[in-house]
Amino acid sequence: MSKNIVIIGTSRGIGAALVNFFAQQADCTAHALSRKQGSVVESEKVKYHSFDLGLDCRKSATALFEKIGSIDILINNAGFLVNKPFLELSHEDISMSYQTNIVGVMETVQAAVPFMNSTRSHIVNISSMGGFQGSMKFAGLAAYSTSKAALCSFTELFSEEYKETTITMNCLCLGAVQTEMLESAFPGYQAPLNPEQMASYIGDFSMNADQYLRGKIIPVSLSTP
Ligand SMILES: NC(=O)c1ccc[n+]([C@@H]2O[C@H](COP(=O)([O-])OP(=O)(O)OC[C@H]3O[C@@H](n4cnc5c(N)ncnc54)[C@H](OP(=O)(O)O)[C@@H]3O)[C@@H](O)[C@H]2O)c1
Repeated sequence: MSKNIVIIGTSRGIGAALVNFFAQQADCTAHALSRKQGSVVESEKVKYHSFDLGLDCRKSATALFEKIGSIDILINNAGFLVNKPFLELSHEDISMSYQTNIVGVMETVQAAVPFMNSTRSHIVNISSMGGFQGSMKFAGLAAYSTSKAALCSFTELFSEEYKETTITMNCLCLGAVQTEMLESAFPGYQAPLNPEQMASYIGDFSMNADQYLRGKIIPVSLSTP
């Protein structure tokens, strides 16, 4: 039976490459959720849905998941990065970072839990090396990296609460990948990986790693900008 893969944040970058990755896998339908449509894969195996991790996204996520039905894999890939000196961060910069990178993810997972495949399912959160405990930190990224650290912590807390269930959650802390987000954080830096390479790793991980790992925070990094 075809698996339902839900990917959030798919208009560009790693999310768009993930949609392409799953469009090429057998027996699955990729549900691409994003605010904007962005790049589009012409395939019957890909369904596009408008979705915003903004306020009240639990309600809109529930309505979408009711239509999709049973979810096998949920990849929380969307992210928002603001690069500003600490004192210049506005309330909106901080709240938008937290809304997109942690609050919206938690509310989306609340909506998804009743729909996760009751035999086996995997939720993969996409965090950052910036949010990985003990990693090198960078000026200008206080709102982004603290919100990504919260996503790591959420992974451990959810996993404890759901340890007796068939829902597995893990968190990947990505290093540099050549995307618009990387360019805004580290202008001019050349990353060792492109979005397709990282999407291939995340795609394989989401399909297989839940058999071996639960509640883990995993650094996926070749370099430090
Ligand atoms: N690239 C890197 O080097 C790197 C390193 C560490 C971690 N990461 C993480 O990897 C993930 C993907 O990053 P990327 O580099 O591909 O970023 P990107 O090119 O900026 O793409 C981010 C995606 O998230 C979507 N998004 C943003 N806000 C959203 C919202 N409120 N609701 C729904 N979708 C939203 C964007 O879509 P719209 O704006 O069109 O809605 C876009 O499709 C992010 O979580 C990022 O933090 C990336």
